[in-house]
Amino acid sequence: MSHLSGSERAIYVQNMFGRIAGRYNLMNRLMTGGQDMKWRRFVVQQARLKNGDKLLDLATGTGDIAFEALKTVPNLQVVGGDFSLPMMQVGKTLPMGEKVGWTGADALNLPFPNNSFSAITAGYLTRNVIDLPRMFAEQLRVLKTGGRIVLLDSSPPKNNILKPFIEIHLRFIIPLLGRIVAGKSGADAYQYLPSSTQAFKTPQELAAMMTKAGVRNVQFRTFMFGTMAVHWGEK
Ligand SMILES: C[S@@+](CC[C@H](N)C(=O)[O-])C[C@H]1O[C@@H](n2cnc3c(N)ncnc32)[C@H](O)[C@@H]1O
Repeated sequence: MSHLSGSERAIYVQNMFGRIAGRYNLMNRLMTGGQDMKWRRFVVQQARLKNGDKLLDLATGTGDIAFEALKTVPNLQVVGGDFSLPMMQVGKTLPMGEKVGWTGADALNLPFPNNSFSAITAGYLTRNVIDLPRMFAEQLRVLKTGGRIVLLDSSPPKNNILKPFIEIHLRFIIPLLGRIVAGKSGADAYQYLPSSTQAFKTPQELAAMMTKAGVRNVQFRTFMFGTMAVHWGEK
């Protein structure tokens, strides 16, 4: 799949999430030892949501960030947007599933009017997107002035003493877990995750791209030995 580009890659990603939707949450907990929910809580904190705000959780998948936001700020309007309907169908059946406005949405062509959200969160979208400047332009278009964008994604391992261990986890442990938990379709998806992570921008490069795209006051924090990053900024 690493040879794919443009719309072929987008279609590949969309189909892949459709195939693994039923096992997606379990795989996240296993791969990260449950740490992933800590990063999602940090994402929600950085969105600085208040009662009455309207949040767009983009690439919402099965809704983990959307649910975390609803737990933190009870009187919040949350739209969950994703181009994989099977992922959102799983989310709909979970506790609080009825509180999210699940919406079919492509991050490169958002079906929302200008200036309509107080904040945007997106977990594991950025690495999958085929046109980052356009993704940022769409997020800035639908966000209100002063609103915050918060992005969570995996980052390529740094060149340090831990790199060989992280590479073993990425290249062998994750694909093996994928095969065991999600079967044949999981094997392919959980090969895509490590390969797209290793090919992705460093946190510094991504912060520079956000700034260039017009996001203001961009900052980031890394987790799990630098292999996860949360970036945030404002319109
Ligand atoms: C790894 S899942 C993340 C789900 C959720 N945000 C989380 O934190 O668990 C990535 C999601 O991004 C969605 N996605 C990828 N590219 C997209 C795009 N261009 N537009 C909308 N959704 C996209 C996929 O369908 C998938 O549900």
